[in-house]
Amino acid sequence: MRGFWILATLGLAAAEDGLHGWLRYARLPCDIVKQAHIPSAIIALNTTETSPIFTAGQELQRGIKGILGKALTVTHEASDSPSVIVGTAAAFNESGITIEIPELEEDGFWLSTTGDTVEIVGQNERGALYGAFEYLSMLAQANFNEVAYATNPSAAIRWVNQWDNMDGTIERGYAGLSIFFKDNTTVSNMTRITEYARLLSSIRVNGIVINNVNANPIILSDENMKGLGRIADAMRPWGVKLGISLNFASPQTFGGLASFDPLAEEVIAWWTDTVDKVYEHVPDLAGFLVKANSEGQPGPITYNRTLADGANLFAKAAKPHGGIVMFRAFVYDYQNLDEANWKDDRANAAADYFRDLDGAFDDNVIVQVKYGPIDFQVREPASPLFAHLKETPSAIELQIAQEYLGQQCHLVYLPPLWKTVLDFDLRVDGEKSVIGTDILSGKRLNKKGLTGYAGVVNVGLNTTWLGTHLAMSNLYAYGRLAWDPTDNEVSLLEDWTRLTFGLDDTVREVITRMSMESWPAYENYTGNLGIQTLTDITGPHYGPNPQSMDNNPWGQWTRADADSIGMDRTVGNGTGFAGQYPEEVASAFEEIETTPDDLLLWFHHVPYTHVLKNGKTVIQHFYDAHYAGAETAATFPQQWAQLQGLIDQQRYEEMLFRLTYQAGHAIVWRDSIAQFYHNISGIPDAAGRVGHHPWRIEAEAMTLLNGGYRVTEVTPFEVASGLHVIQTTSNSTPASVTTTLRFPAGVYDLAVAYYDLYEGQAQYELFLNNASVGAWKGDNEDKLGFTLTRGIDGHSATRITFKGVQIGEGDVVRIDSRPDGRETAPLDYLAVLPAGVVD
Ligand code: GCU
Repeated sequence: MRGFWILATLGLAAAEDGLHGWLRYARLPCDIVKQAHIPSAIIALNTTETSPIFTAGQELQRGIKGILGKALTVTHEASDSPSVIVGTAAAFNESGITIEIPELEEDGFWLSTTGDTVEIVGQNERGALYGAFEYLSMLAQANFNEVAYATNPSAAIRWVNQWDNMDGTIERGYAGLSIFFKDNTTVSNMTRITEYARLLSSIRVNGIVINNVNANPIILSDENMKGLGRIADAMRPWGVKLGISLNFASPQTFGGLASFDPLAEEVIAWWTDTVDKVYEHVPDLAGFLVKANSEGQPGPITYNRTLADGANLFAKAAKPHGGIVMFRAFVYDYQNLDEANWKDDRANAAADYFRDLDGAFDDNVIVQVKYGPIDFQVREPASPLFAHLKETPSAIELQIAQEYLGQQCHLVYLPPLWKTVLDFDLRVDGEKSVIGTDILSGKRLNKKGLTGYAGVVNVGLNTTWLGTHLAMSNLYAYGRLAWDPTDNEVSLLEDWTRLTFGLDDTVREVITRMSMESWPAYENYTGNLGIQTLTDITGPHYGPNPQSMDNNPWGQWTRADADSIGMDRTVGNGTGFAGQYPEEVASAFEEIETTPDDLLLWFHHVPYTHVLKNGKTVIQHFYDAHYAGAETAATFPQQWAQLQGLIDQQRYEEMLFRLTYQAGHAIVWRDSIAQFYHNISGIPDAAGRVGHHPWRIEAEAMTLLNGGYRVTEVTPFEVASGLHVIQTTSNSTPASVTTTLRFPAGVYDLAVAYYDLYEGQAQYELFLNNASVGAWKGDNEDKLGFTLTRGIDGHSATRITFKGVQIGEGDVVRIDSRPDGRETAPLDYLAVLPAGVVD
């Protein structure tokens, strides 16, 4: 009873599944509600039900009801009595309401809570809706301050890109199937799409491309065009415009033409006709996104045409409709890169392809540039291409989907990473050229066209949208930073936390601290000094696999050998990439002395014994950073545990599970990377940790009972502690291993390292002196969304921990397991950990 009473007074809703994201409108505590003095009516200055102003009226009503428990009426006629009044500046004028506000830019709004009436004025309908969301966000955070201000977007393009396939899967999706497509067609139920548009609108995202950049031309079928019309209709009341990705070869593969040459008349006619047709179904279509001549996608180069010829083909067709073309700069040739050639460098590709085309694009083409020159790595220098596009508008491509950053199974709050690029000053022509405020804003370069942001996101059918509650802070902050790249990443996080989990100070402090620690920790345990995320580059991009980076044509090389590591990208001796930057930046990166440590191996090839600015050798820094990162991750479940009872049980438990998993996987990362570089360099860890695990008992050193288990090696070798694992000899017969503990009596955490493959669900049970400590299944495939593999590798490596177990010296541990098909209950080790030891 007592527990129930506490929950009730804290106002905690029973279970929350995350579906409402940061738009929960949870009731504020009674004493706070009393402080809110708000008008008793809402006036929305538009009667058309599909208009964003009408939506704003409804949303205000819903929000105020939820947050304050007050039922307000919504009307559409202006009146003098105190009200929350929302409309465009034009509608205010037409209604005879005098407002004194600064001039607003497109999508901008004015919010005033100073008088009896709350004024929410948009430059356009969309802006007014943003203002309504802003007001609700204040109320939900119990911020009843009197404010009166105007705010305008930093850039006109604030889009997200979904990489949804027509069959309903999502490229790099970790949160279930598509909310847009199924069985090669658009879905018929618009519920989730509408809810998604609502979330996007609340963070001021104004456009969405819903299909994968690796585009399937079937999106252009008559049936699918109708479906696009329905989707656009569902999102229009939220001010979110639809866009689609196009496949360059569509005229041939879908239209039946002999070619897709962008200068061929019949091809031009085909596209003009097709684009006209799309606009018949979606008259306000925002435009098109095109990936051409990259990673096997077709493009104009096939016909010896330029990329600009390719982009302009669509631009001309879209122009009469007011549409734009987002043409991706992620163009590189992965087939002809040769690591044996010291000068070869994929990082050069974007500027090499696009530099000379500056000015050759039609004015409704925007070149969409990934933040770094390679591919969404844990750290990259800013793409130098931004400095070359002086006549061509550009947009930055950020990735909310955590493809190389833990696939939403690791907490990684991304804005601090994005800020390293947005805040970077490229010094174009020796003048201040900060990417966010000067370049993407169109203030310094690209003055004529539209500029902005595209965030790759992988929302799926999972009720949490992104597969896990905390990843949503990335989506939230993305929208806010696209609006204002100078916004502070901590205060954005605090806003999001209050909106998502309520007003408790501990909740806010813990989530903020953990989130802010998360990217540095992830960088530490996955790949530091600018060496990139040392993951399986030819595989799922999830777990550790440093050796996969090299000896293939994908060009994400580390050039690690027995003595040295790093990409020499200098002009003097390397690939010349550093020279793609404007002079001041180029000369800084050219020299080791002026290259920051955290990008050292991006720009320079150095011996492992090279001494960094922090006084450590490269190799010792590797070891230390990986240990430090895993130690930080180990605190996450402990930090989160402070929130028990302060947030709802469902989200508490779901996050505790993920953070515990992350803490274990961070050790997998740490050990694999440290072991790999220890092996290749032969240089010992000065702290004596690498390869020494005094609290571990390797599975291969245990007694394998009745021949049920056998010892095997794994590939890559470094993902197994002691370089060996054990697997069952049969696919179905139960097996056991046992060992006697030789640690002093005391209380320990027992951690079992095993491998969870997606085919099969092996069962395990851990016993201490024949008493069960706990049982579990290899069922990551049901619980986690990362790209699962069928091998014993760095992706499947998993740890489970049983906390606070009393053991005595000479106690006997046994693990019973039951293999399930391909999942042969593989075990790596048992760790018996005294308090405070992370190993
Ligand atoms: C990465 C990613 C691909 C994606 C590509 C792109 O390489 O792994 O899945 O298609 O980027 O951005 O086009």
